[in-house]
Amino acid sequence: MDYSIESQSLDKLQTHCVVVGIYTNQQLTPSALVVDSMTHQLISNLIERGDIKGKNGEILLINVVPDCQLERILIVGLGEIEKFSTKLYRKALAAVIKNLKTSQIQSVACTLAEVELAGQDWQWKTRQIVEVFSDILYQYSQTKSIKPPAIALQKLQIVVPEKEKKRAASGLSQGVAIAEAMNLTKLLADLPGNMCTPSYLAQQAVKIAESSAKIKLDVLEESDMQRLGMGALLSVSRGSRQPAKLICLNYQGASDHSKPIVLIGKGLTFDAGGISLKPSSGMDEMKYDMCGGATVLSVLQAAAQLQLPLNIIGLVPSSENMPDGDANKPGDILTSMSGKTIEVLNTDAEGRLLLCDTLTYAERFTPDVVIDLATLTGACLVALGRVASGLLGNDDVLCNDLLAASETACDSAWRLPLWEEYQEQLKSNFADLANVGGRDAGTITAACFLARFAEDYRWAHLDIAGTAWRTGTHKGATGRPVALLMQYLFNRADG
Ligand code: BES
Ligand code: MN
Ligand code: ZN
Repeated sequence: MDYSIESQSLDKLQTHCVVVGIYTNQQLTPSALVVDSMTHQLISNLIERGDIKGKNGEILLINVVPDCQLERILIVGLGEIEKFSTKLYRKALAAVIKNLKTSQIQSVACTLAEVELAGQDWQWKTRQIVEVFSDILYQYSQTKSIKPPAIALQKLQIVVPEKEKKRAASGLSQGVAIAEAMNLTKLLADLPGNMCTPSYLAQQAVKIAESSAKIKLDVLEESDMQRLGMGALLSVSRGSRQPAKLICLNYQGASDHSKPIVLIGKGLTFDAGGISLKPSSGMDEMKYDMCGGATVLSVLQAAAQLQLPLNIIGLVPSSENMPDGDANKPGDILTSMSGKTIEVLNTDAEGRLLLCDTLTYAERFTPDVVIDLATLTGACLVALGRVASGLLGNDDVLCNDLLAASETACDSAWRLPLWEEYQEQLKSNFADLANVGGRDAGTITAACFLARFAEDYRWAHLDIAGTAWRTGTHKGATGRPVALLMQYLFNRADG
């Protein structure tokens, strides 16, 4: 798809279709007004006849426009003008692109960056158009011998006034980088566990490192982890035929003095649960247990593409969690890299075993902040469903920064408490701590476990078990929370 910014007047645009918006109070956007006068009040007449009411997401495609330079007009309802919001803006955009996706239209000029939205400028709106369009155009076809039909749409022009071109162009490049990052996250996550292995993720990291002179890559092998004393991480991969990898990407976009932002992503390329085997129904979805890791790889790719003036380290501990004669057993005791001992009460709580050693490893980078992303607990789905990611952390400023970024990016997160009282649930009779804290507050006790390995720096954890993929007929990865993290990085780069 070819995205561009255009400042020509609507009658001069070379396009097969112009997209304009209307509200439920019959109000037209500025471009809809222009189109209306170019077409002898066609839009006003259609509203009058009741053919379109302007409800959010409502679509009316006019395929023939007699006596007019415009080939086609696509009208989208924006809803009630008083209630218009960033989320409704994205819903309207999604309705537009869903309609175009199945049409034969090859090129489109979208005027919707002009829509008034309190607090959002042309850069933000342009970025959202690219993000939403690309999100809906994503089609998985990698492992299908019968490919889905190709999408006709090739070209999208975003129409903006001359004086806003610069802001819009910056929004466009941000949008393209985010869209490509989300596509990579989705693709890696949608690929099956027999193809997307820890080694495969490491190969992807090689490609990302090769794409930018500012990225250095280091892949730690099991022997390296052994030397470092990563007993928790290695205990999980011992049950698998696939060797574990600890992928370390280092993007240097700022001076050496600038402390890095460390991103850690859980990279379980398949989680069968180990000896505490999961039930077979829906187990296929545990190929998505590497979404945190895929997000970290993609965000580093996008940060380098946009040349963000930040230092960012991406760490992806990757393994499978399988039942095996050599796998962790309930009751086993591990010594983590930090020296803390862990009693494995449930081998299915493996994510935290990989993450705890990676959190300890992160200390060597003297991080400014550490943010980990993990499909960590089913309990997070119970608490927050598939709408918001769970956010927990030991620093209010960092957590508030992430919440603000999630709001701007329309990639919701909600903070849960990490109070000392919950640590009680992790007490073990035989080790320093247990790897599970019982049924109650599962998302919080998982984060409490991680917190014990993140005591020396500012740290936040995003539980993305509910938000990283969809289940049911639309089963597939969502690409979240790439947009949230990118927004956090934009804010850090600006601030
Ligand atoms: N990867 C799972 C978490 C998960 C479950 C994500 C369902 C998405 C949907 C994680 O490794 C896991 O198995 N967690 C256990 C922890 C429990 C044993 C304390 C869980 O949530 O059941
Ligand atoms: Mn598990
Ligand atoms: Zn898991």
